[in-house]
Amino acid sequence: MTHQSTLILPSVLASDWSKIGSEVQRATDAGAEWLHLDVMDGNFVDNISFGPQMVQTIRKCTDRYLDVHLMIHRPDHYLERFIKAGANNITIHVEANYDTSVAETLQRIRAAGLHCGIALHPDTPFEAALPFVEMIDLLLVMTVVPGFGGQPFMEAETMPKLAAARDHRDANGLSFHLEVDGGIYTTTAPIARKHGANLFVCGTSSFGPPDMKVAMQELKASVS
Ligand code: DX5
Ligand code: ZN
Repeated sequence: MTHQSTLILPSVLASDWSKIGSEVQRATDAGAEWLHLDVMDGNFVDNISFGPQMVQTIRKCTDRYLDVHLMIHRPDHYLERFIKAGANNITIHVEANYDTSVAETLQRIRAAGLHCGIALHPDTPFEAALPFVEMIDLLLVMTVVPGFGGQPFMEAETMPKLAAARDHRDANGLSFHLEVDGGIYTTTAPIARKHGANLFVCGTSSFGPPDMKVAMQELKASVS
């Protein structure tokens, strides 16, 4: 899949956890090729979600691509557990604390045969990702403050950064995907698309509506 193709990634954080198996099946049946899994440690972000065991549970429920977003400190300390749990991509935050380093962690993810990504908080400039852009498969530009679903899209704070990342990538013959995450609806997804995004994380807007398949189709149509 090239960074020209667009995908809608349902974020499991917004699903009904009391029936996680059927929710994952619902997203799979609705045509999701990637699922976005938000891991939160209550330290790096002011919320706690789930860990490797939930990733493993979801792995058993679907064959689709699991895009694991680690909103945790010391992602290198926990890395093996997420690899073993069945992640396909692991995205780490440049702002997190590491026992080793961002670069070493990205290398370990790739060495395990997975894809790797870097995530940027809305307050973090694109320059913070520059040392890593030749090592990553995707750059995740957070369009909300990480920690919670259902927040409003932060257009002014994040779209210039997204466009700068696209321009740098294209000017330097790189090929990482550009992913946006948070407040993505049929109204905001086109704005992110115009600034270079091709992967669209949708929590509330995909799991929220009664007909997820229609919601996914409408979201996809809004960026096609
Ligand atoms: C927030 C997460 C997002 C969130 C998206 O920290 O990274 O993936 O679940 O939520 P919505 O799509 O509901 O804004
Ligand atoms: Zn996320």
